[in-house]
Formats: sequence, structure tokens, C-alpha cells
Amino acid sequence: MVSSAAMPSLVDERLGGWQSSRMEFAEVLARRRMVRNYTTDPVAADVLEVIAESALRAPSAGNSQAVAVVVVTDEALRAEIAGLADEDDYVSAGFDPWISRAPAHLVLLVSEKVYRDRYSEPDKLGPDGVPISWPVPYWWVDAGAAMMAILLAAVDNGLAAGFLGVHSVPELASIVDAPDGYTPIGVITVGHPAPDRRSSSLDRPRRPRSTVIHHEHWDRG
Ligand SMILES: Cc1cc2nc3c(=O)[nH]c(=O)nc-3n(C[C@H](O)[C@H](O)[C@H](O)COP(=O)(O)O)c2cc1C
Repeated sequence: MVSSAAMPSLVDERLGGWQSSRMEFAEVLARRRMVRNYTTDPVAADVLEVIAESALRAPSAGNSQAVAVVVVTDEALRAEIAGLADEDDYVSAGFDPWISRAPAHLVLLVSEKVYRDRYSEPDKLGPDGVPISWPVPYWWVDAGAAMMAILLAAVDNGLAAGFLGVHSVPELASIVDAPDGYTPIGVITVGHPAPDRRSSSLDRPRRPRSTVIHHEHWDRG
């Protein structure tokens, strides 16, 4: 194990000595969950920057780096996003108004076009000079990687976060004034955690390890 002193710092110096009590990675991972309620306490702007900047550490196919984050703290904009995300339906189902209440929304976007352009560059073309046929749409993969980086960074900074899908994609893009070709994949709410209602999705237990982790070949037991 590399000592933390020898590792390049991923931590922004603007946060000063406050980071010294940071958790180990395993604890951050274990603590992460989608939180669906927050206190109304704001999150310091510099902390939000550090959390958003974690997306810069995410991997990307061909180093395309086509993920972008719009940090939204304006109350009216957050209310608009909450409306688009049908927050009323959450509240009718017994949840808190967690989307509008979250002091920050990180809208995560990705551009498929940037990937297609990158994979048209000479070092990415096949021997026949033809771009690859995308066995997997890497832009979604990379957006997911950036999402996880942000979720973990929130926990690492003593906060909570929750991802939600927003089905009105063009409207969300318009709210954040996204450039052409950038698709918002959803919103990450960030804030100080408050007691929340458990999602019904969690009634599905975590799959047993043996059905997820296999060795050499898929073990059908
Ligand atoms: C791509 C994706 C979309 C999700 N969309 C929503 C959503 O719209 N609303 C919501 O409350 N939770 C959403 N979730 C959260 C999942 O319900 C949650 O991750 C899952 O139940 C496991 O719980 P945990 O993340 O708290 O461990 C989403 C998660 C992912 C990865």
C-alpha cells in the first residue's frame, strides 16, 4: 500500500486541513447510498467545486473526456429541475421533497458526438480506415463512471448524494443551457443528509456475491 504522503493529492488545497479526517476508500464506498432527503443547510461553494471536479478524474474511452457537469444551486432553477423530475410524484408516494430541498444539483451531461469525432482520429480508426462499430456506447459508460466519482466524492466530503433520472431530457438540457449535442443523463442531488424514506427498489435484496462474482468462467452453480 502506498502511503498517503507519497500519493498525488486528489484533494483541493482550498479545503485546507479539514480533509485530514477523511475516510478510507473502503469506508467511503460502503457508506455511499442514494440519499433522498437533505437538511436545508447550504454546501460551501468550494466543497461543491471539489465534488464536481471529481468528474475530471473519471476514465474515458479514447480519453474523449466528453462528460460535463453543471452545478446548480439557484433555488428557482432547482425547483424547475424538481418539477421536471416529477417531485410531486415522489411526495405523493411518501418521500420528502428531496430534489428541490437538496441545496445543490449536479447535472451530468455527455456528448456522443465527441466520442464519434475522437474515434475518427487516425489512432482510433481500424486498419481499413473505418471507425469502430461501437460494441458498447462508451459515452454512457463514461458518464456512469463520472457519476460514481461524484457520488463517492460527496461522501468523502462528509455529504450525501442521490442520482435521479429525468425523463424530460431536452427540457433539462434547456434549463442548464447545454450546448448542442450534450445530453444530460440525470441529476445528482448533493447536500447534508436528513432521515429519508427507503426506496422500494431496496426491497430487492443485494444479489448474493456468488451470483455476481465469478472466476475464470461464469459459475452456474
Ligand atoms: C442509472 C440510475 C438511475 C436511477 N434513477 C433513480 C431515480 O430516478 N430516482 C431514484 O429515487 N433513484 C434512482 N436511482 C437510485 C437507485 O434506485 C439505487 O441506486 C438502487 O436502488 C441502489 O440503492 P443505493 O444506491 O442506495 O445503494 C437510480 C440509480 C441509477 C444507477
